[in-house]
Amino acid sequence: MVERSLLRVLDGETVWPPPVWIMRQAGRYLPEYRATRAEAGSFQTLCYTPKLAAEVTLQPIRRFGFDAAILFSDILVVPDAFGLNFRLAEGEGPRLDPVTNAAELARLPERLPIDRLAPVFEALRLIRAGLPPETTLLGFCGAPWTVASYVVAGQGTPDQGPAVRAARADPGFLQTLIDRLVEASIDYLAAQLEAGADAVQIFESHGGALAGELFDRWSLEPVRRIVEGVRARRPGARIIVFPRGRGDRLADVAALGVNAVGIDQDTDIRQAVGALPSRVAAQGNLDPGVLIEGGAALDQAVDTLLAAVRGRPHVLNLGHGITPPTPPENVARFLARVRSA
Ligand code: CP3
Repeated sequence: MVERSLLRVLDGETVWPPPVWIMRQAGRYLPEYRATRAEAGSFQTLCYTPKLAAEVTLQPIRRFGFDAAILFSDILVVPDAFGLNFRLAEGEGPRLDPVTNAAELARLPERLPIDRLAPVFEALRLIRAGLPPETTLLGFCGAPWTVASYVVAGQGTPDQGPAVRAARADPGFLQTLIDRLVEASIDYLAAQLEAGADAVQIFESHGGALAGELFDRWSLEPVRRIVEGVRARRPGARIIVFPRGRGDRLADVAALGVNAVGIDQDTDIRQAVGALPSRVAAQGNLDPGVLIEGGAALDQAVDTLLAAVRGRPHVLNLGHGITPPTPPENVARFLARVRSA
């Protein structure tokens, strides 16, 4: 078995220099991504055409040699498979047919129609076949709360207001929706691991909207059930959870038994690693802004981050996704800096 350094880190080992990948590494900052996206015609076609999804996943690996590839897809393919008609409105962000009450929810299938996601599993097989053996392949899904926040609103919202209101006004409806997403996520992640993913990441991008105990009920508890459910099917499954905006609850996320916890750029990295048990890896947390800036500011931010994580299991990454204005040469500089540490 070839050695995949990122998997050793997920198993609690310290690897130096740390393995590195970046969130949204297949994306609009890359000219080759924009070309394939144009060829596909739409974001949905790109997601659901295995050859094209595999191609854009592999592009940043060819260009930069990251230690991990992340499946090119979207967290909203799960509600799409339930029949909610996911599309990406040009310049407007994602759209779904909203589900706002128990009666609308009752019309959806009980269980994830997983056959509709067959192109994703085919893409994973193609990606694995095209990757260098030492490169880790990551699958992913959205955490139930984050996905539900799009399902209830039918789109992205600045504060997840519609889902937060549902949590207070109609918790029975929201619980049924979350339960369905928990079961769907278990099925989906287990199938990704079956199709060749080495590890999976659960994106909780909007947990910041859940005040106080709402975070326990609507984020931690559903994610705990997914971790248990996936491991029941795939013993030893390696799982990363990224609770963006919740640097205050990292110890609680680690206590779910996950292998790594993603740290956003608003969280002090020294405080973050202090909150995590020594064998739970941290992942992050370079500011995507310094990757736009480049030069000495980038070098300094990388050095500061490396100094803070030296001697513990860490996966170098950004604190959130890379943004379209980032010059690709700054990504190369970032990688070179990490690898010469
Ligand atoms: O990281 C990767 O390279 C893997 C692919 C990936 C995408 N989306 C591709 C994508 C992953 C892991 C995601 C996750 C995702 N999608 C999240 C969680 C992470 C986060 O960003 O907080 C969320 C909330 C979504 C929902 C979503 N999809 C949004 C809000 C958008 C619009 C974003 C934007 O910047 O316009 C998308 C579309 C999307 N998903 C793009 C990409 C590369 C932009 C697509 C394009 O226009 O070509």
